[in-house]
Amino acid sequence: MSRRAMAAACLLVAVAAPAVAGDTSEGTILALSCAACHGPDGVSPGSIPSIDRLKPSEIEAALKAFRQGTRPATVMDRIASGYSDAEILLLATHFGKGK
Ligand code: HEC
Repeated sequence: MSRRAMAAACLLVAVAAPAVAGDTSEGTILALSCAACHGPDGVSPGSIPSIDRLKPSEIEAALKAFRQGTRPATVMDRIASGYSDAEILLLATHFGKGK
């Protein structure tokens, strides 16, 4: 690729990225890590529990219990251990919003 084409491509990515991502709030970006299993809006496929029906306070409590190891889990204990209180609040607000 020529220098000029490369510069044009970079500019295009820079301009297009926010439009593609749409909602770029911190909670939405954190929630991308959950989307593979729980879907972007918390509606989970298969046997994974859907989290869209939960209140923000319930999601927050669940994640903290998983993180502490007080709630039995197959994967959520390891996943929740990577998040701070502030990030858990953002995730809970994202998935539980409007409920
Ligand atoms: C690898 C797949 C996977 C990923 C990634 C994942 N989860 Fe989960 N989640 C599960 C499974 C499976 C359960 C059921 C508990 C268990 O077995 O660990 C669960 C349970 C939950 C629950 C409890 C639901 C209930 O009905 O009480 C919440 C809340 C939750 N996940 C939130 C999240 C959030 C927020 C993220 C992103 C930070 C996330 N999960 C990422 C698979 C996943």
